[in-house]
Amino acid sequence: MVNLCVFASGNGSNFEAIANGQYRNINVKLLVCDNPNAYVIKRASKFNIPCLIVNMKDFSSKKAYEEYILSHLLEYKIDYICLAGYMKIISNVLLKAYENKIINIHPSLLPSFKGAHGILDAYNYGVKVFGVTVHYVDNGVDTGKIIDQEAFHIDDETLEEVEEKIHDIEHKLYVKVIKKLWEV
Ligand code: GRF
Repeated sequence: MVNLCVFASGNGSNFEAIANGQYRNINVKLLVCDNPNAYVIKRASKFNIPCLIVNMKDFSSKKAYEEYILSHLLEYKIDYICLAGYMKIISNVLLKAYENKIINIHPSLLPSFKGAHGILDAYNYGVKVFGVTVHYVDNGVDTGKIIDQEAFHIDDETLEEVEEKIHDIEHKLYVKVIKKLWEV
């Protein structure tokens, strides 16, 4: 079995899509959440997936924070990590321990519109082609090697309509990439 851990900070619709995926040999084993009020925690309990809740404020440094997470990842024998709306930058402790084994989903066609407001930034810019990117995580923000992308064209859709379409695509694309990379 391949053991997967999802990191999330908020709503968790991508976590739910991943947890709902039908895989031959992949087990969604753990959620790591850095926000004790996040809705994703409720989603995890619905799936009976254990959740490690971590608060950076309880640690003296980012290194100590990630070492604490890493000890749990090792305990759960986690093979790969999927970031899904995790609002912190992954730093060296986890990057070294999970080299080329951490992926992220971003709601724009990278390298355009990196950062926390990818959809709004693209919408305000007035682009007509939107999309979603799944990429490997490195020490930058939304900069790692691209694994897959999906795009769509808009006319006069509202921001809400674009967001809905992006999230629909995210949920399918993330599961597709996970299967492509790690299913045997
Ligand atoms: C998604 O749009 C994802 O691309 C971005 O953060 C959002 C998380 O949404 N990184 P959710 O918490 O999975 O619903």
